[in-house]
Amino acid sequence: MALHGRLLVRGVVDVPGDKSVSHRALILAALARGSSRIHGILRSEDIESTAHVLRTLGVDVPPLSERMTVGGRGLNGLLAPATNLNCGNSGTTVRLMMGVTAAQSFPCTFTGDVSLSRRPMRRVSAPLEAMGARVEFLNADDGLPLVMHGGRLSPIEWRLETASAQVKSAILLAGLCAGVPVLVHEPAPSRDHTERFLRAQGAAIRWGNGRIELDPGGSVAPLDVQVPGDPSAAAFFAALGALADDGAVTLRGVDLNPGRTGFVNVLRRMGADITVENGIESGPEPIGDLIARPGILRATSIGPDEVPSLIDELPVLACVAARADGETAITGAAELRVKESDRIASVVANLRAIGVLADELPDGMRVVGTRAPLKGLIRTHGDHRVAMAFGILGSSAATELAIDDPACVSVSYPHFWRDLAGVTA
Ligand code: S3P
Repeated sequence: MALHGRLLVRGVVDVPGDKSVSHRALILAALARGSSRIHGILRSEDIESTAHVLRTLGVDVPPLSERMTVGGRGLNGLLAPATNLNCGNSGTTVRLMMGVTAAQSFPCTFTGDVSLSRRPMRRVSAPLEAMGARVEFLNADDGLPLVMHGGRLSPIEWRLETASAQVKSAILLAGLCAGVPVLVHEPAPSRDHTERFLRAQGAAIRWGNGRIELDPGGSVAPLDVQVPGDPSAAAFFAALGALADDGAVTLRGVDLNPGRTGFVNVLRRMGADITVENGIESGPEPIGDLIARPGILRATSIGPDEVPSLIDELPVLACVAARADGETAITGAAELRVKESDRIASVVANLRAIGVLADELPDGMRVVGTRAPLKGLIRTHGDHRVAMAFGILGSSAATELAIDDPACVSVSYPHFWRDLAGVTA
């Protein structure tokens, strides 16, 4: 990326299908009675991991394609796997499938790549063990590989210490497959895609005011779903529009679930001009187009209440803060330390390496914006969102960044660099 004089953005990005919705569409289609149609699924390495795990459990999942049909096996139809369940880099795959397999009568061994193997899994095993499953951690005292010894489960009421859609979903899926009621309390609202899917499939589920209650019946209906565009992918281009000197970028068909769009509020607060057009409720999720235009950027504070709605967007918001006037503080985001990399450490180290004043906090970071030229090498630690965040910053005026591993974006957004070139050329 060269030292640009000015950044002009122009054009439309059809962001890829939402990653969280794509995982759930495959898993819930696999558990439905009958064939489900899925349109617009994300084709990326993380979703390949979920497809691979389901195939290993006997589910008829064809190659990922724009329009695909998945043959469901019902809630009790999965088969004992002949091999380990390799989840690659995907936390959502392992955590949601731990919930599903906790209710099966056969053991399953979960493995993953180096990054995934280091990520905490006791937060998932604890409620599943309280329901009656047994989880054997083979190497460390947390993380992968682990063996899930599933079986008959009991109803559970569980209080999450930290808002986590993955843990909540694991408990809901365990209750669903075992046919036992579950009640989950969450300290702040996390993304509710699993709940929306289950409601659309006819399950007796209620949620609101920090409570999620499922009273499972004996089956769930098949799906006919259009996967909306991924707000976490759109956020990179919204940030690009905010950082630009002129122009506008349109992001089409984005999931506008309020549990995912915290970044829109933050970018607006920072001075960017973000508008929503063509908003509709289509299927389980609300969708619409986002149009992002530049503004005079100023620093902001992002606190614990907002964090669950923008947790995956914090790396790119920190990169926008690097070009905003004043000091931005992010707090209440200790969860960033256990993502695909320690995102507090990796974002701050990269910002400092290119000339931005930034500091780690135990649960967040401080970033002081600058207009000075920024230059240097970005170390991604194999983390897709770090690569894309700095890819966006690297496109802004007076910035020249090299990314050590640009290919790592393929876990969530294989065409990211092509799409970025398309709106900045
Ligand atoms: C996800 C939930 C979030 C998010 C992750 C995807 C999901 O993780 O960071 O990228 O699809 O449920 P947590 O549940 O750990 O907060």
